[in-house]
Amino acid sequence: MTEVLIKGGRIVTAVDDYDADILIRDGCIDTIAREITSETAILHDAAGLLVMPGGVDVHTHMEFDLGMAQTCDTYETGTRSAAFGGTTTIIDFALQKKGESPKQALDRRLALAEPQACVDYSFHIILTDVTPETLSELPDLINQDGISSFKMFMAYPGVLMVSDAEIFRSMRTVGSQGGMVTVHAENGEVIQVLIEEALAQGNTSPKYHALTRPRIMEAEATHRAIRLAELAEVPVYMVHLSAKEALDSIVEARDRGIPAFAETCPHYLFLTIEEYDRPGFEAAKYVMTPPLREHECQHALWRGLRFDDLQVVSTDHCPFCFNENPYGINRSKQLGRDNFEQIPNGAPGVELRIPLLFDGGVHGNKITLNRFVQLTATAPAKMFGLFPRKGTIAVGSDADLVLFDPTQVHTLSASTHHSNVDYSLYEGRSVTGKVKKVFLRGQLIVDGDQWLGSTGAGRFQKRSASGRVL
Ligand code: URP
Ligand code: ZN
Ligand code: ZN
Ligand code: ZN
Repeated sequence: MTEVLIKGGRIVTAVDDYDADILIRDGCIDTIAREITSETAILHDAAGLLVMPGGVDVHTHMEFDLGMAQTCDTYETGTRSAAFGGTTTIIDFALQKKGESPKQALDRRLALAEPQACVDYSFHIILTDVTPETLSELPDLINQDGISSFKMFMAYPGVLMVSDAEIFRSMRTVGSQGGMVTVHAENGEVIQVLIEEALAQGNTSPKYHALTRPRIMEAEATHRAIRLAELAEVPVYMVHLSAKEALDSIVEARDRGIPAFAETCPHYLFLTIEEYDRPGFEAAKYVMTPPLREHECQHALWRGLRFDDLQVVSTDHCPFCFNENPYGINRSKQLGRDNFEQIPNGAPGVELRIPLLFDGGVHGNKITLNRFVQLTATAPAKMFGLFPRKGTIAVGSDADLVLFDPTQVHTLSASTHHSNVDYSLYEGRSVTGKVKKVFLRGQLIVDGDQWLGSTGAGRFQKRSASGRVL
């Protein structure tokens, strides 16, 4: 039996904040007490450090094929990068190809991730082909395979987008089994008209990515998704919410008691549309969907995080290299040099969620320390059926722990991150608060700058379909 003792730390969960020791046995939290002594346990001194639950990032795209290009992090490099950022569980995506069953999509992804994952993982299944056969597989996926959430796209026509009818049918089936539907909410068809108009006028630079994806088309789709979910009687979760007007729709629904939820991502909290004014092709680094928004949206999002109109912060880690890279130009942002529509959509950030949100949120006095843990670990774990195994520090929970120095100042840079991607959205930004040690089920996997984890040690997590709604 392996025993690990973490001594002298300040334990912070979504609700607690106290000094205590933690004894870990066989990967789980065995005892929490003011003073624990052990002759046999491996000792870690946590004096001066916060001890927090390992982060849960419910929106990442490792080895993700977006049609035009594939993201540059493998399950190995992406999950290692996550670990260095204090995240010990990710929920990634299994994309159903046309003609494929959702179960086949899941099996493909499991086979890819299993030998590589460095932290624990699960998948949301992206439904792109909603046939009667597809629908008939969903109950078993939810009740036996531990996949309790599904994603659909209202954007990317011809690639990922599904119709309202397909969304509604899927919602009814998922809802009947107690599952969750997540939605990329933007009006894809209208956005396509705007893109074609911009290109016809010779407006090809990255900035037009933002100008052709207006906030009110995110709001329109958000409202539509909520109303479809309301009729279908299923909880609905909006991914990467960016626009103030979309948040207004969430607030309106929640005020009526509808189980509507949303996440936002660090880039919407820390960056604005002004990034697209960068010279040359630099702005392409910031081409993600939805695009960065105006300053007033940031204020609305922070307010939403404080008042629980927004429940989760995830990364939407979707890294495409900026330069031609070892994988070849077909995977880089350079694809869109002459046409913004060809720039692979997505930005990196799986390693920066916890440092950024601590610095801007807690250190910056926008959210409390407890709320920070709630947003980055507890709420995502509850929302997607991983709690209480993940997302908190409690007797019996997995010993996924982050030892965090709340005072250490450091500089974010592509030269020090662990992702394969060749740039950082936050190059040169100084932040206060640093991940010092990370434990995955009791194993020390990150110690300062040292990687101690192992490839393939991450485990697939079956998720439950009940008890998630906050
Ligand atoms: O730009 C983004 N977000 N790319 C990833 C795919 C998606 O829409 O989440
Ligand atoms: Zn999306
Ligand atoms: Zn301001
Ligand atoms: Zn995404």
